[in-house]
Amino acid sequence: MRSSLSRRGFLRISGLGLTAAALAACAPSAFPRTPEAQTGSPATPARTPTPLGAPTPLSGDVDVELALTARPGEVPILSGQPTQVWRFEAQLLQGDPAVLEPIPESYLGPTLHLQQGQRVRIHFTNQIPQESIVHWHGLHVPPEMDGHPRYAVKTGEGYVYEFTVLNRAGTYWYHPHPHGRTGPQVYAGMAGLLLVTDPEEQALELPRGAFDIPLVIQDRLFNAQNQLVYLPNGRMDAMMGFLGDRILVNGRPDGSRTVPPRPHRLRLLNGSNSRIYKLGWSNGMPMTVIATDGGLLERPVQLPYVTLAPAERVELWVDFGAVNPGESIVLENQPFVDPGSGMGMMGMMGRQAGALPQGERYPVFTFQVSREAGGGAPLPERLATVERIDPAQATSTRRVTLAMQPPSGWTLNGRTFQMTDVAKEERVPLGATEVWEFVNQGGRGMMGGMGMLPHPMHMHGHPFQVLERQVDPAGEAVWESLREGFVDAGWKDTVLVLPGQRVRILRQFRDFTGLFLYHCHNLEHEDMGMMRNFEIIA
Ligand code: C2O
Ligand code: CU
Ligand code: CU
Repeated sequence: MRSSLSRRGFLRISGLGLTAAALAACAPSAFPRTPEAQTGSPATPARTPTPLGAPTPLSGDVDVELALTARPGEVPILSGQPTQVWRFEAQLLQGDPAVLEPIPESYLGPTLHLQQGQRVRIHFTNQIPQESIVHWHGLHVPPEMDGHPRYAVKTGEGYVYEFTVLNRAGTYWYHPHPHGRTGPQVYAGMAGLLLVTDPEEQALELPRGAFDIPLVIQDRLFNAQNQLVYLPNGRMDAMMGFLGDRILVNGRPDGSRTVPPRPHRLRLLNGSNSRIYKLGWSNGMPMTVIATDGGLLERPVQLPYVTLAPAERVELWVDFGAVNPGESIVLENQPFVDPGSGMGMMGMMGRQAGALPQGERYPVFTFQVSREAGGGAPLPERLATVERIDPAQATSTRRVTLAMQPPSGWTLNGRTFQMTDVAKEERVPLGATEVWEFVNQGGRGMMGGMGMLPHPMHMHGHPFQVLERQVDPAGEAVWESLREGFVDAGWKDTVLVLPGQRVRILRQFRDFTGLFLYHCHNLEHEDMGMMRNFEIIA
């Protein structure tokens, strides 16, 4: 069944003129079921390879110091056999024990709780059977501390990170970033949340502790032995968007939780490799958004639903007191026009058999409202100060065209990632404010016309602001079905560029010089090279 599907997909895509080279890698690849045993060996002391441009070490004193190890493991996910995973484990060496919050029964790494201004040292050790490196998604850190693939370390080796937390309070996350292997490693379980707090947020009466709930949403495809299956149709899945057959929240299937009838803060991360969500409440109540990728908005925004692309975060404030005690309310995916369907038969063929279609209604997480006492402060009217970047400050506009280009696959301005390669137009002066324009309005050649698939575009380093979104009429059906869920306000680090769109962002290139990445956060697109360096130069 699967092989015939992939064969037809193969023919279809060949018919569109992709060269044989593009398809050479079309063989199925599965996540290694039995990774080499690495457990049991005594922890190897972390070795820091000398990075290009050695980091300035922080003075011996840090506020938080921890050891973070990636290693194979097993977790029970579905009933029956446990699932082989790769996961992060951490150990606190110095600092407040509240820094590390494990997520019970999950492959997810512990949630790291950090404060703005803290000096942090993290000793990463790689115990998975392939090279890896860790990236702190959304954090504004020097290039040597950012987990660029050029710093990937082999099995048994390590990397020491030292940085000061400069970001605003917000929901950030960490995940591996070795070139060509980010997708499979995240998929195997390597990811965790990194929550930052600051005095501005502390001063607000937002729900805390048990009432501040992270929801990491991911989809996974399982085989009959409960093992993760990755890209069953090989390159076809990677091109078109790889979807699972199950939704996991915080690493668990059929997510639900009993909550008291009072206000809660929900921190949503789309930690999926490729899937886009249109999230709403099953009882039709609006979604109250208080924060996006880079932290709190100026004031809460009410939307009918929220559109969340891979790597994007959104924080909701919700009063379960609005639901009758004893009843439940479901955070659900609501129907939308799947952008992949714009590719007609090819879109259908590219989607693996058994996958849960992303544009259909399905439950994501259920909140069972208890009969306990309520309580809790009302929603603050004002949340935070969001300084607007003045577009008049922008000294240049750079255009980045997102397109399919055989034989490479998905490209940025026709190029794919080369480890340290930076084109002339990818050099930015330190201190500059610029407009970057991501254009998903079609490539060249036979793939011309309009863009075909959505690309969540992510930039490393300092967050940005969304300036403008233009929609080509050809992309209207998809846009109309998702538009009310976009939260383009506030600080962002990932922005979804739908087919037919041109999205302009405003970004300041400040504080650090060196090589940083920008890429599509569809992890298979990223791994096939839809990623480039930009260099901030003094
Ligand atoms: Cu979340 Cu370059 O990645
Ligand atoms: Cu990132
Ligand atoms: Cu992409």
